Amino acid sequence: MRCTFCANEAVLRLRHANLRLCPEHLVARVEKEAERAIREFRMFTPEEKILVAVSGGKDSLGLWAILTHLGYKADGLYIDLGIADYSRRSREFCEEFARARGLPLHVVALAEEVGAGLDEIAATLRGEPCAHCGALKRYLMNRVAWEGGYAALATGHNLDDEAATLLGNTLRWDLEYLARQYPVLPAGPKLARKVKPLVFLSEREMVAYCLIRGIRYIYEECPHSVGARSLFLKDILNRLEDAAPSTKITFLKAFLRVHPQLPKPKEVEVRDCPSCGMPTAAQGPCRFCRIRERMAQRAPA
Ligand code: AMP
Ligand code: FES
Ligand code: ZN
Ligand code: ZN
Repeated sequence: MRCTFCANEAVLRLRHANLRLCPEHLVARVEKEAERAIREFRMFTPEEKILVAVSGGKDSLGLWAILTHLGYKADGLYIDLGIADYSRRSREFCEEFARARGLPLHVVALAEEVGAGLDEIAATLRGEPCAHCGALKRYLMNRVAWEGGYAALATGHNLDDEAATLLGNTLRWDLEYLARQYPVLPAGPKLARKVKPLVFLSEREMVAYCLIRGIRYIYEECPHSVGARSLFLKDILNRLEDAAPSTKITFLKAFLRVHPQLPKPKEVEVRDCPSCGMPTAAQGPCRFCRIRERMAQRAPA
């Protein structure tokens, strides 16, 4: 199989883009697509300092590499969630990446911030571990970005993630969530701008990109995500994509075109959390502080 652009052997076929790509042209396409998203949605400029939230997986470490190669100023943030072996290994991949490239990496640990890691939180609190985890991660990402004076917080959500989220939101016709699903969310008081430069890049492209660029990353999924609804939705979309290539990209791009016509999300009144001072819609302490207080009250092991 020959590359669409040169005489070299292609390593990846992208049916949705009608392309066959050699390593060199795959890297070029991935970086070009990320740059396209950054410009189209005015995510940030080369003068601005960006914080990339890295989980140790292919998407976020790939994103950090892409931004660095494109000449953006990007530091990393790793949140050590305290998930047995998984957190230790994913942290090593992030630290190795940062060290090898001489890039600054912030590390914050739930054990220090909340007084307990996610395994303990999951065993103590009712509700989905992933829901607690998501709330704690969002809080810490925002706080570090805000306190560090970063212009934007970038995450590694890719096309497969965004299409699955869109399918979930559409199945419920959740207009609030649909209105908030966008590749860039503006900054607010003590709220960092949130950006997703990989929205147009598929998981397969990110795997290939990391392989070609020699980026080592954790393959395993978080043990708490087993059976998660998002994985089920991704599987359904993969089957649709097999039968009809470009289903995902068409679904997402068509949504982004109609997005401006959606009703604006409800204005929520935010106040400062009396405990930590960060913004919250809750009456009383924010969700992060409530989890921290709840964990502090648990019976000692
Ligand atoms: P997930 O919510 O696990 O699908 O991850 C979505 C994005 O959140 C990743 O691409 C990362 O940018 C970020 N992220 C997830 N886990 C972490 C973590 N432990 N530390 C920092 N960023 C993370
Ligand atoms: Fe948060 Fe798995 S990464 S529950
Ligand atoms: Zn080529
Ligand atoms: Zn708080």
